[in-house]
Amino acid sequence: MSILDDPGLFGRQWATKYDQPGNPDPEPAAAFLAGLAGSGPALELAIGSGRVALPLAARGVAVEGIEASPEMVELLRGKPGGAALPVVLGDMADVAVDGSYPLVYLVFNTLFNLTVPGRQEDCFRNVARVLAPGGRFVIEAFVPDEEQFARDEREVQVHGVTEDSVTVRMHRYDREAQTFLRQTLTFREGGIQLRPFGMRYQWPEQIDGFAEAAGLRLEARYADWDRGRFTAESPSHVSVYRKD
Ligand SMILES: C[S@@+](CC[C@H](N)C(=O)[O-])C[C@H]1O[C@@H](n2cnc3c(N)ncnc32)[C@H](O)[C@@H]1O
Repeated sequence: MSILDDPGLFGRQWATKYDQPGNPDPEPAAAFLAGLAGSGPALELAIGSGRVALPLAARGVAVEGIEASPEMVELLRGKPGGAALPVVLGDMADVAVDGSYPLVYLVFNTLFNLTVPGRQEDCFRNVARVLAPGGRFVIEAFVPDEEQFARDEREVQVHGVTEDSVTVRMHRYDREAQTFLRQTLTFREGGIQLRPFGMRYQWPEQIDGFAEAAGLRLEARYADWDRGRFTAESPSHVSVYRKD
């Protein structure tokens, strides 16, 4: 097994930095999801530190979560309202909860964190199992961009220069497997820290195929949480799948 396939890797490497400024404003996502949650509860796969779950709960929706990283759950627990949300520690592909949810959601490209072949498909199948009839599974993900891949492979991205460290980032893509490896390197006196991260990316039509195989139907696709029109140029999508 590759280190990239370890569901706990992300939290071990990034939890201490996750809630620093730079992540997207969660309010448009919370507003969109609140409109689909009905009487709840809503289930967030990879709930993380509650970036979206907490503003959604603040809108009166009962939110539950699944998360692989105890470090990320600890961040959630430390925030106002975060201790009250039921969270199962586990792999989101297994969706190890019982229940009948009107809404399950997986945002911020995190479907692609499932790097083991077949696990994204497992995730869809297991979500379909816990969705109530008429329930929705909402995915937010980037649309793969070959030109961006080529730029990523050519360029070293500088992420930080301080008096005692330099942080840079590099990428390697495997176009056949639809995966990439990203290395973030921090150079300090006395050593170099490597933080590997991987994704298995999918085009929207491929995600639709996973949904269809799980018995879910694409109900709507938007360019963003404000329901912007999705076009061939859209860099990302918000897709709503429905269990009829
Ligand atoms: C980019 S963060 C997103 C967190 C949160 N959903 C948000 O929007 O801020 C990715 C999250 O996925 C979690 N994760 C990665 N692989 C996972 C897996 N296989 N099962 C459950 N959680 C996983 C990480 O620990 C991390 O909390």
